[in-house]
Amino acid sequence: MRKYFAVLAICTVFSGISSAQETKNEQGKPAADQKVSPEVVNRKNPVVPSASSLAEAKKIFTVDCVMCHGQEGDGKGELAVSMKLTPPDYRNEAAMNKFTDGELFDIITNGKGGMPPEGKRATPEQIWDLVNYVRSFAQKKSSPPAK
Ligand code: HEC
Repeated sequence: MRKYFAVLAICTVFSGISSAQETKNEQGKPAADQKVSPEVVNRKNPVVPSASSLAEAKKIFTVDCVMCHGQEGDGKGELAVSMKLTPPDYRNEAAMNKFTDGELFDIITNGKGGMPPEGKRATPEQIWDLVNYVRSFAQKKSSPPAK
């Protein structure tokens, strides 16, 4: 029994080391190397932007995204400002509509430029929730939410 726990502990330590290295490699990848295939662009969002999808996304967004994208989605989060990054303004609907849901899914999963990948921390469903949430900033501005 004790032997089993020792093996388990060693495995845990090793998998921790290798996943830390993977993250480093991915972030070092230049953004220009990212090619987006037609399958990615045309991928349909399987998650409807329901209240529960948006609520789930808001939790993740508050922890992992607000520091760069800002509470209002304006791209002026503290970390973005201090790193001199200029994330796009989510409230600009015309700019956001240049991306399909599939492309937003890809950017959130794999990162882009100064943006870190979220794919290892969230499930695909949570990423689609985030796509819905990111889109909701533009909709909020054009039509006030019904109470
Ligand atoms: C370290 C700062 C940082 C963090 C943290 C971050 N982003 Fe970004 N994000 C950026 C930057 C910078 C861009 C613009 C990338 C580019 O175009 O080169 C961007 C672009 C995007 C885009 C593409 C939109 C567009 O118009 O280009 C989406 C969608 C997005 N981020 C969502 C998220 C989500 C969701 C999270 C949290 C899971 C997140 N980001 C976390 C900095 C960040």
